[in-house]
Amino acid sequence: MTIISSLIYLIASVLFILALRGLSHPESARKGLTFGIVGMALVMVTALFDPRVSEWLWIIIGVGIGGSIGAYIARNIEMTALPQLIAAFHSLVGMSAVCVAGAAFYNPENYDIGIPGDIKLVSLIEMSLGLAIGAITFTGSIVAWGKLQGIINGKSVVFSGQHKLNALLGISLMVMLVLLCATGSAFWFWGIAIFALILGVLMIIPIGSADMPVIISMLNSYSGWAAAGIGFTLHNNLLIIIGALVGASGAILSYIMCKGMNRSFFNVILGGFGGNDSVSGVQDMGDRSAKIGAAEDAAYIMKNASKVIIIPGYGMAVAQAQHALREMADILKADGVDVKYAIHPVAGRMPGHMNVLLAEATVPYDEVFEMEDINRDFAQADVAYVIGANDITNPSAKNDPTSPIYGMPILDVEKAKTVLFVKRSLGSGYAGIDNSLFFEQNTMMLLGDAKKMTENIIKAME
Ligand code: TAP
Repeated sequence: MTIISSLIYLIASVLFILALRGLSHPESARKGLTFGIVGMALVMVTALFDPRVSEWLWIIIGVGIGGSIGAYIARNIEMTALPQLIAAFHSLVGMSAVCVAGAAFYNPENYDIGIPGDIKLVSLIEMSLGLAIGAITFTGSIVAWGKLQGIINGKSVVFSGQHKLNALLGISLMVMLVLLCATGSAFWFWGIAIFALILGVLMIIPIGSADMPVIISMLNSYSGWAAAGIGFTLHNNLLIIIGALVGASGAILSYIMCKGMNRSFFNVILGGFGGNDSVSGVQDMGDRSAKIGAAEDAAYIMKNASKVIIIPGYGMAVAQAQHALREMADILKADGVDVKYAIHPVAGRMPGHMNVLLAEATVPYDEVFEMEDINRDFAQADVAYVIGANDITNPSAKNDPTSPIYGMPILDVEKAKTVLFVKRSLGSGYAGIDNSLFFEQNTMMLLGDAKKMTENIIKAME
């Protein structure tokens, strides 16, 4: 590699780090994306001019097909379908790692790592790790995609001895890894590939589709490490750096999500949780009755409030109610009402889900607050407008040790003078449990689609 291309790769690495930094806040996200795009363009052009590239045609065809598919998907994908799209993309990273390992194993001279049957030990180690992680990521991501897309049954698939089988496969993988490095035999290479492909499936099938977002972020981490493995095989420092960045950031994200859901990080990493599907559906509501209101009631209450906190959840995303919501907030603000948005770390179905939707509706960033910054404000709020959110407000997380979500931090909406709950029924949310807040004295249920209800409130306000 020439000094110039090394220098460009270094610049691109810095651009990717800046991209990740930019993406950590909605205000700087666009700038972050630009850094990422420029970095990627630099890398691709530099790779094309690498003296080892003898023919451009296949590369251009590949970039053309991949780029067109990517552009089409980016323009047409629904926001709610992003998790499965990400899973599908991760499977491609895993598959690339397996393909590169195979190419390097059978043509080592092209990669400067030895000759067939006599590959350098360090290269064999890197190659086998990339192969194993890549194969696990490939099949694991396909199962995750299938569950989220509804093609594979989303229920948790559990059988007796599952953990023991996983452990046995994991240990066998490590033994084969050592044997491959010791002998360089193709038998062990394919053994690793097959066992890792099976392990990928077995690790993901016990996870219920509802818990899949954490798995997606975990697979994101795996795909990063697989890319780093490819980087070692290809002697490409840039891939090693980017792979490590993705691997580490995916692991940190998984940790943050687990904390927000009060789950054990290690159980997730080992593919050992997800039995949630066994939690019963809506629990017995006894003879409690909820106060059901209309859009006109909500409009009257909010018009007479001085402080309103909006709590968006998954239902807002499903209904695509963010634009109507902003319009409603604008009307309230014009009337002198103080309006803020409260964002729970796991509201919706993926990290930053609510922030992205609110940003799309041009909600000012300074009105959007993270849970720890706004929770104490509920006690002074006149209205908590909960739109399509459920679990993230459920007090059983605080006061019912038998609840599946016990210990999960929640937004203290019940402390507001009035809680307006917009959802279609008294049914449960993601965790499948009853929310006692629906039956509280200060709660009014506004039953209906989040977008339609908010539009009706706007009409009533006008
Ligand atoms: P949920 O607890 O799932 O509640 C969403 C509510 O939206 C449902 O109860 C549903 O009630 C309502 N809804 C659905 N479609 C609607 C529509 N068109 N109009 C109005 N309401 C609609 O969501 P949440 O409060 O955002 O909490 C997120 C949950 O997901 C948490 O339990 C969290 O642990 C989990 N989770 C999140 C993540 C990330 S990273 N965000 C990852 C994994 C798991 P109706 O059917 O009655 O309308």
